[in-house]
Amino acid sequence: TRDDSPSTASTSPLTFDVIAVDGRARATSLKLPHHDCLTPMFMPVGTQGSVKGLTSAQLEDIGCQVILGNTYHLGNRPGPEILRKAGGLHGFMNWRRAMLTDSGGFQMVSLLDLADITEEGVTFQSPIDGKPMLLTPERSIEIQNDIGADIIMALDDVVSSVTADRARFEEATHRTTRWIDRCINAHQRPHDQCLFGIVQGGLDLELRDLSLEGLLARGDALPGMAVGGLAGGESKEDFVRVVSHCTAKLPAHKPRYVMGVGYPLDLVICTALGADMYDCVYPTRTARFGTALVPEGVLRLKNAACANDHRPIDETCDCLTCKTYTRADLHEIATREPRAAQLLTIHNLRYQMRLCAAMHRSIIEQRFADFVRDFIKKQFPDDA
Ligand code: GUN
Ligand code: ZN
Repeated sequence: TRDDSPSTASTSPLTFDVIAVDGRARATSLKLPHHDCLTPMFMPVGTQGSVKGLTSAQLEDIGCQVILGNTYHLGNRPGPEILRKAGGLHGFMNWRRAMLTDSGGFQMVSLLDLADITEEGVTFQSPIDGKPMLLTPERSIEIQNDIGADIIMALDDVVSSVTADRARFEEATHRTTRWIDRCINAHQRPHDQCLFGIVQGGLDLELRDLSLEGLLARGDALPGMAVGGLAGGESKEDFVRVVSHCTAKLPAHKPRYVMGVGYPLDLVICTALGADMYDCVYPTRTARFGTALVPEGVLRLKNAACANDHRPIDETCDCLTCKTYTRADLHEIATREPRAAQLLTIHNLRYQMRLCAAMHRSIIEQRFADFVRDFIKKQFPDDA
């Protein structure tokens, strides 16, 4: 079935076309100022302006289309003035393809217990010099305008889905809606940077609806939509319930980004529910602990079983690591770091790219349900 909803107007910095729909899953083309992307799409996370241990050329070889930069780190160092002189983050990182920056508040709240959220913004102590800093919606957008990423995120009031109470969720949901207008008004580059709104509301579907309505009312000021406040320790049932509810109500003609999602199984689940974009530190972080993503789940290279295993990590993988090293080689290297971390990061990111490309193809060929069945059967052979 072809989706013939109109693509976004030519004044928008993005062009979004749904190429095919299979069930609720979508294969789309997302043209951003710095790269023409295909979705479903996984976006690796870089902090301090690079993905740990990898060069920009390696990221391109792996097939990365968009990488995440970080407002919280970048607002401190290299600092907005240095970035502006380098031609934004693209110049600073020597990265030619597309980039996305998060608004910073979430990082503040999740990384630092010191954050204090008021109507004005998020107050926190600078991790560099301990001085108090106030991140307002206006300041977050100003920093993101300086960084110059293709996609920038609205500042949201994020509360942990497992700790906060109903009153706090209600406050955060309404505050996020009030802040969206401050973000829209502060945005100086709507012609070449796409501002995405973020649906909040915790695990409460009524709050999610209020958040959704607030964002939908802002129309074309928000060329893309994200679902936030998840992947923070809630049950899989709650996660699926909320993602499913939100994707069903988000506009078909805008990209849908589920924030903080990175387990391969969750990429498949969210894609089945109609989401398009994902980001997570998981594949790169787990690589640094010696773990490789494989169709059967994970492979821990430090396990003794790998010492005499002369197969590649994944026979079906075309990455540099799988073409060059055996599991035994990597077991040996993994005990001596940090080169193993780089080799496993390359493999894990390539795994996520190939997973997304395989989903894209299966949706176009109208066999996504079979794809999901095969994927699940490999990951959970005992349940077959
Ligand atoms: N990253 C993961 N979840 C979130 C969220 O809810 N908001 C923001 N801004 N970033 C996130
Ligand atoms: Zn590989």
